[in-house]
Amino acid sequence: MVRVLFVCLGNICRSPMAEAIFQRLVDDAGLTGEVQVDSAGTSAYHVGEQAHPGTRRVLARHGIQYSGRARQLTGGDAAGDAAYLIAMDSENVADLQRRFGEDARIHRLLDFAGHTPVRDVPDPYYSDNFDYVYRLVEDGCQGLLQAIRADTGL
Ligand code: 4NP
Repeated sequence: MVRVLFVCLGNICRSPMAEAIFQRLVDDAGLTGEVQVDSAGTSAYHVGEQAHPGTRRVLARHGIQYSGRARQLTGGDAAGDAAYLIAMDSENVADLQRRFGEDARIHRLLDFAGHTPVRDVPDPYYSDNFDYVYRLVEDGCQGLLQAIRADTGL
């Protein structure tokens, strides 16, 4: 089982969106039993809350259901040897590295994106730009799935 954990600051906007989009791609590829998808926040600001209405709205518009609740990253999230720790921006990468060390499993989502030069997923919490964020995250998720398939032979 390959584990993929998406990480942002609050776990209510970007990483739940990535989790839901990536789960859809995994399911569509027939890999549901092979890849486990989850998300977490570096902060505890919104623990227990539903995803932001903007994230739920844009996902619903693309026919994707999401019912997860925000949680904070734990030490166990870096345990084991099959995890991909996928940060939404450089600040999340720095937080992950402070916590888990310079681990080769830590990546930035948009480093896998093929159709944009943008490398940090902007935070829609203040900008409300959920459609733009969706397009970026989808691009990154498609590239990430290809990379994982190439890495693991799935
Ligand atoms: P996220 O967005 O990291 O994409 O979930 C944010 C959510 C909440 C806050 C910041 C970013 N906040 O400051 O509460």
